[in-house]
Amino acid sequence: MISIRKGIGALRDQRSMNFLYSGKRSPVMINWAITGGCNSKCIFCEVPFSTSKDVPLQRMHELIDEMMSHMPVRGFHLVGGEPFVRKDIWDILAYLHKRKAQVTVTSNATFVDRFTPPQLEILRKAVGLLRISIDSADPPQNDELRGVPGTTERVMKSIHILLQEKRPDLAITTVVMNKNLTQIPHLCRLAARLGIFSLEFQPISPISIFNGTHAIESKIDLVPRMPVEWECLNRVIDEGITEAKRYGLQTNLPTFKLYAVPYFRSLGQSSNGLFQKELMSDFRCMKINRSMFVDFDGAARPCSILSSQVGNVKQESAQQLWNKLGAFRYDEKKGELPDACKYCFCHTGENLRASALLSPWKNRKLLSYLLKNDQI
Ligand SMILES: C[S@@+](CC[C@H](N)C(=O)[O-])C[C@H]1O[C@@H](n2cnc3c(N)ncnc32)[C@H](O)[C@@H]1O
Ligand code: SF4
Ligand code: SF4
Repeated sequence: MISIRKGIGALRDQRSMNFLYSGKRSPVMINWAITGGCNSKCIFCEVPFSTSKDVPLQRMHELIDEMMSHMPVRGFHLVGGEPFVRKDIWDILAYLHKRKAQVTVTSNATFVDRFTPPQLEILRKAVGLLRISIDSADPPQNDELRGVPGTTERVMKSIHILLQEKRPDLAITTVVMNKNLTQIPHLCRLAARLGIFSLEFQPISPISIFNGTHAIESKIDLVPRMPVEWECLNRVIDEGITEAKRYGLQTNLPTFKLYAVPYFRSLGQSSNGLFQKELMSDFRCMKINRSMFVDFDGAARPCSILSSQVGNVKQESAQQLWNKLGAFRYDEKKGELPDACKYCFCHTGENLRASALLSPWKNRKLLSYLLKNDQI
């Protein structure tokens, strides 16, 4: 009975997705890397450590006005670099709040102890969801992965401050690689202990996550490439699912289980088959239909993974850039996604849901699995 109700809800959702899909006039979401600066040195991230190319505050205000009034978009996901290294982050957040934008921020959360009470107040009002990066429940290992000693202590301090405040919703986000595979259930227990009830896992990307910077060469060694590691991964995901049920946590583990091993396996293959096609019929990417990615230097791209740049928000209006991105949406609709999509590490869950909803019959097993596991 619950499943039927959920199915109807999901189909209703499909109608809205179709509507959004055919609307094309504007993105629902702007994913914005608002800075290329960072205070961490994560061993898997090639952040440019430069703030010189960031889109200036005044131009950000103009763009936010345009995006909220004329397009209009619904929400913003601010990433970076580290969003809180921008000194004017408080102006940006306050402005987004004034324009009634829904805001999510992904952060390394190493700064919260330095926030003043008025800044905490802006955070509370402006940010709906704060995603905090933690890659291991073992402090020395987390420090090693995040590249700066003492990181974990500061993150924990931040979380305690946030938990005492009337705060944005908190979620933990984790990059899964060979060094921390077994941490999945531990991270579930840590989240429960801390009082954070949402966790998201994503596989490590071996390509540079910042266009224009070279991928860290040793990063490929962090990719689980051996069958024994894949077996271990499936096992610990199952353990994580059990722990999540035990503590009432919301996680993407059931979806992650579907694609983590196919993703890692495909990275070792030279053929250009997209791993996504093993998992779903009529593979659709909702990401490029619903959102626009703005890089730290202002470059507008279809998503954070595809390097093609259609222009720059410093010079062009958001609407012009969205229209130019229509070429990618057109190709996607024809089922022509580029080979680079095999590196799609952070959007596969969303695309699994979209494909199941847009082609429910062909993806009936997938749809039923997603419904059963609360992934829709
Ligand atoms: C680029 S960071 C920006 C936000 C912030 N600095 C942080 O670390 O949360 C956004 C997310 O990407 C993740 N990330 C960084 N490098 C990655 C990689 N090579 N593969 C997968 N995820 C990665 C980070 O851990 C973080 O959760
Ligand atoms: S993952 Fe985030 S915190 Fe780590 S180096 Fe990259 S941008 Fe900085
Ligand atoms: S990499 Fe491909 S599948 Fe992933 S979000 Fe970008 S366009 Fe979509």
